[in-house]
Amino acid sequence: VGTMKINTAHHLEIGGIDTVTLTKEYGTPLFVYDVFQIKQQCQTFIQAFKELGVTAQVAYASKAFSCLAIYQLMAKEGMSLDVVSGGELYTAIQAGFPKERIHFHGNNKTEKEILEALDYQIGCFVVDNFDELALLNRLTTARKQVVNILLRVTPGVEAHTHDYIITGQTDSKFGFDLLNGQGEQAVKLAMEMPYIRLKGLHSHIGSQIFETDGFVMAIEKLLMQAAEWQQTFGFSLEILNVGGGFGIRYTEEDQPLPLAHYIQQIVSTVKEKTKQFALKLPEIWIEPGRSVVGDAGITLYEVGSQKEVPNIRNYLAVDGGMTDNIRPALYDAKYTGVLANRADETAEETYSIAGKCCESGDMLIWDLPLPKAHYQDILAVFATGAYGYAMANNYNRIPRPAVVFVENGKKQVVIQRESYENLIQLDQPLADFY
Ligand code: LLP
Repeated sequence: VGTMKINTAHHLEIGGIDTVTLTKEYGTPLFVYDVFQIKQQCQTFIQAFKELGVTAQVAYASKAFSCLAIYQLMAKEGMSLDVVSGGELYTAIQAGFPKERIHFHGNNKTEKEILEALDYQIGCFVVDNFDELALLNRLTTARKQVVNILLRVTPGVEAHTHDYIITGQTDSKFGFDLLNGQGEQAVKLAMEMPYIRLKGLHSHIGSQIFETDGFVMAIEKLLMQAAEWQQTFGFSLEILNVGGGFGIRYTEEDQPLPLAHYIQQIVSTVKEKTKQFALKLPEIWIEPGRSVVGDAGITLYEVGSQKEVPNIRNYLAVDGGMTDNIRPALYDAKYTGVLANRADETAEETYSIAGKCCESGDMLIWDLPLPKAHYQDILAVFATGAYGYAMANNYNRIPRPAVVFVENGKKQVVIQRESYENLIQLDQPLADFY
């Protein structure tokens, strides 16, 4: 993927830089992102909309990976931004991200977070529920400040990888249900609120989606509703946000569609259905996270101890694990990898890659074919760019890894490795309990 290849030293190379050199310079575990690949994903989305001649915003769902540098990169690429917390918002503002292109999501935005977003004058709130709508009405009225909002609705379509489910009642903590009238009630309420400008609707049907049917069905539902509300009480849909969820390849079993294909299908459905329902063509917004950064990132680990369970399995332990990638433990997520320092050797053994946490479930990959592995080999795990560092934690007081950006022979640390000092910097010594 991207600019990865095997160099003359038989090492894995990314962005024109030898991964083994990177580990010597910055230590392990190490996240490495191929900036060229990230830029390409952004431009693929943006150009796909351009070619189809529709007005669109491509908002990077920054929960997938957030730090100052990625926000700055997204700003330069012309992306918009989806943030879901005061922390993501703060980081984006510190990064100088254009505030009018920031969209604020979340099912329980606190009053403090909403006030911060109002102070920053962000572009759009994606309102999730009645309590938030009332809170936003109270705060904007008190401040006499106008805000743009979308309403997040649950259309009763849930996509999951290879199947999608249509449900009569969506059992989800997110959004206004379309099927029981909550959506309609919310639209009516919002249209009456003096400082709230209801611009449109949002839905997100799932993550790691490999086909377009779910999007098509959700769009059809939303547009049908919008048309009905336009007729009955004058609602006007200016923006349709269809969320994120475009799948990536973690292992060979995953067969994602080309990104442009999702966009073509989304746009043609919106065009067709707006025509059918006599609606004006809305702006189309999407919110990809995983597909922007997921397979642009790899993790480099150093191999440590091995344990053979005779006739059953060989465990190969690395110097990270569920603290830098919790997805295998949490979701049974699958990954693949290679020995980066001997990248062209043929696999002759099968190893199960263990993390270093005191927890049996701390496994990264089961049954990975590799060349015979030795102490201090470098293991590269692929497609760790989304929800890896973002979900990193300090279980067992393991410091979080460093993150490096590379492109065309250039490299830069964008998040420093956590130190032991960092680990105790918020701790306070025991007070006088004795
Ligand atoms: N928009 C909304 C409203 C979302 O809830 C999400 C993801 C996205 C966009 C971006 O979805 P993406 O394009 O990245 O699939 N931690 C989980 C993924 C949680 C996704 C939550 N929402 C994982 O590691 O698989």
